[in-house]
Amino acid sequence: MKPLFLIGYMGCGKSTLARKLARRLGVPFADTDTLVEEREGASVADVFRYEGEEHFRQAERAVLEELIAGGCAIVSTGGGLPTWRDNMERMNAVGTTVYLRRTAGQITRRLTPYGRQKRPRLQGLSDAEIVAFMERDMAAREAYYTRAHVVIDCGDCPDHELVDRILRAVKEKE
Ligand code: S3P
Repeated sequence: MKPLFLIGYMGCGKSTLARKLARRLGVPFADTDTLVEEREGASVADVFRYEGEEHFRQAERAVLEELIAGGCAIVSTGGGLPTWRDNMERMNAVGTTVYLRRTAGQITRRLTPYGRQKRPRLQGLSDAEIVAFMERDMAAREAYYTRAHVVIDCGDCPDHELVDRILRAVKEKE
């Protein structure tokens, strides 16, 4: 199968859905944030803090190329990955991209304390500030995300139904 790339804003559930899709299909999956942390030997927050965002984005792209070369079936991508250089074109050329869309309010309600703390771009913000920041940031990213082959409005849909919807939509595109 062609690789399936899950894209979307931070906290929208890409990693969890990648794991569930992989389990359903019996194929391997990977998460770009986790692999960047392994390669860099540091957390995403520390890579941002000590090496800067540009270094992080380059490491993210290197991991993306590794996964493409290795034929990974399901890839969960960091929220900013589709907005950097030609990452979106690259993923669209070799696989199927799926944008998991949720509103800022939905994402903020789903965020755990750990989920907030591990994301450098949300650190130190209150709930109201997070919603305002996300609304602005999402609006700027929407033009990249909507280049995906498939757009799924997640709403309050349970994960097992999202897995069904993603697989149906991907099949129709193939
Ligand atoms: C980022 C999203 C994060 C992570 C980093 C930057 C972003 O990934 O790559 O904190 O720019 O939106 P998740 O989408 O997995 O949270």
